[in-house]
Amino acid sequence: MDLRGDALNAKSLLVGFGESPYASTSNGGWSETPFQRWIKFKEAYSQRFVRDALALSKFTPTHCIDPFGGSGTTSLVCSQQGIRSTSIEVNPFLADVISAKTNPSDRKTLLRNFERVRATLSQVQLQPLDRTFREAPKTLFEPGLNGRFIYTKAVGVRILTYLAAIEQLRDGKAKRTLKVLLGGILVSVSNIVVNGKGRRYRSNWQARSTTAVDVDRLFEAAVMQCAADLDEIANSALSPTTLLRGDCRSLIHKCSIGDISIFSPPYPNSFDYTDVYNLELWTLGYLKSRNQNLSLRRATLRSHVQATFEYSRVTRTPQLTKTLKKLERAREHLWDRRIPEMVQGYFDDLHLVLSGLTRRLARRSLIVMAVGDSRYAGINVRTAEVLGEMAETMGLHVVSADRIRQIRASAQHGGDRELAETRVVLRT
Ligand SMILES: C[S@@+](CC[C@H](N)C(=O)[O-])C[C@H]1O[C@@H](n2cnc3c(N)ncnc32)[C@H](O)[C@@H]1O
Repeated sequence: MDLRGDALNAKSLLVGFGESPYASTSNGGWSETPFQRWIKFKEAYSQRFVRDALALSKFTPTHCIDPFGGSGTTSLVCSQQGIRSTSIEVNPFLADVISAKTNPSDRKTLLRNFERVRATLSQVQLQPLDRTFREAPKTLFEPGLNGRFIYTKAVGVRILTYLAAIEQLRDGKAKRTLKVLLGGILVSVSNIVVNGKGRRYRSNWQARSTTAVDVDRLFEAAVMQCAADLDEIANSALSPTTLLRGDCRSLIHKCSIGDISIFSPPYPNSFDYTDVYNLELWTLGYLKSRNQNLSLRRATLRSHVQATFEYSRVTRTPQLTKTLKKLERAREHLWDRRIPEMVQGYFDDLHLVLSGLTRRLARRSLIVMAVGDSRYAGINVRTAEVLGEMAETMGLHVVSADRIRQIRASAQHGGDRELAETRVVLRT
């Protein structure tokens, strides 16, 4: 399907999704992909998604805006294709991931600093864990709470020793990259796994015997792999990336004028990124208090019910009104009574982001989004349709909406493979 033309009947596409040729949007091959493999970020789209999106533009874009940076896929691909980009990311660990990938250290400097870290490990003096992590979840380190803990004492101490040694480095880029790589091994040396709904203990975690040697081995392997990735781009000219750290709803006006935007916002599926990346945030010292944790949750898009937000009723479209009526009628059967307000807040937030973006994009620019539907008590939240209707009320032209993937609903949402993920293309 040629998506470059204007002749597409966007409405009919919104109603009767066809299977598109852009099926491989998921981050499936992440562990074999240079840079993507630095951390497992399940919610990333593939590099191909960005390349395909850039190819939709009738001219070569010069500046791409991504308000929901995540692991930095948009910026990474843009910088390798000679396109300037601006990424906004609210999660400080993920913002460092973007920065490490798009403003990278060189191989030699990275390895030299890694050796320096290893050489200082034996001199590091750690504060008692209960003092440093007074407000962290009690289960973080052995002995944990009620017999449950995420790291054994030996593993926890080894991670923090590395971290302290990294913090002493003077080279900012190497420091950031090593911290990100350390973040990338945390789940592997812990007793938990991360899935679509958050974190849970491994089924046999009590039988696992992860030690400090595992931390050494995995961290070294991660550094060597990263060094190999950096080697591959050693002679490439990368275009600059600007990173804005914080909430895109209030930061988008700071972007310089762009001519394309490619992004994937959180989906309205009650997935809380602050929760899912809690392990990295607390262990690596990005969060030091419960208040900081709450502030971060509040700064994220209203796609979850983990924080109480002030709910507004700004955006209305026929599809949204219909969905909200159904959700309100089913309130008693929803796993959280605040879901109707969350869904309303979610679209209000996206309205805000889209209208901010519209002001930061030149005329006839494309906005390419990967969005996902959700379902509560059997009621579908048709994200792409609501966004299509909303975009039209904002004077944006809906170019296309192609189904790119079926996503599995969580157990709470029905657990089957029925929810659509859609690529929506708008034009300013
Ligand atoms: C679906 S992920 C983006 C994935 C990204 N396209 C990639 O390939 O890595 C959505 C991201 O939006 C971020 N986010 C949520 N609320 C935000 C906000 N208000 N401002 C900026 N970023 C936000 C989340 O932390 C998460 O990293």
